[in-house]
Amino acid sequence: MLDFGIWSFRAARQYCDVIAAKSIVLIGMMGAGKSSVGRCLQQRTGLARLDTDEMVAAQFGIPIAQIFERHGEERFRIAETEVLRTLAPVRPAIVVTGGGIVVRAENVDLLKQLGTIVWVTADEAALFERASRRNDRPLLQKENPRAVFLDLLRKREPLYKAAADLRVDTSTVTHDEVAEAILSKLEEVAGLRK
Ligand code: S3P
Repeated sequence: MLDFGIWSFRAARQYCDVIAAKSIVLIGMMGAGKSSVGRCLQQRTGLARLDTDEMVAAQFGIPIAQIFERHGEERFRIAETEVLRTLAPVRPAIVVTGGGIVVRAENVDLLKQLGTIVWVTADEAALFERASRRNDRPLLQKENPRAVFLDLLRKREPLYKAAADLRVDTSTVTHDEVAEAILSKLEEVAGLRK
């Protein structure tokens, strides 16, 4: 995995011109900024953006929080995997995933088939602060959300690390700067994984 914290910024370019065959898959904890970075990547590359949370919510016709409430986390996880199976690696896209996607090994295998996996992260305080800004994250609607969050983070960090080709830190840079840095890095490491 490549870890880059110092960015070199270049003019925006068409990702398609660079590595046409691969999707960019964003993984990482709640609050990391995956959705925002995904939108910036979509704008910069012109590729479609596929968000697994949005797809699961659309399938049920209700928001994620209500899926957890009415059907439970396990049903959500099953739907998450089903959605991933529908994403064929035929056409490159920006794929944004939910924070728990790495918990199932099958999901990681499916994501690897799609393209380059980028772990979007930030320091612990920033992650928790951002993740708890809104009250639509069912896993944090608990008596001690910080403890729950830190426990999830500890368990998931090794999984993100093992799955990722690249890691980007969003603690101190804008989402658009992160998107630009991802594209620069991918251009550099094109051919990283066949
Ligand atoms: C989850 C993260 C959420 C969403 C669901 C479960 C998790 O997505 O998939 O609430 O297990 O961390 P975000 O990472 O976009 O918040």
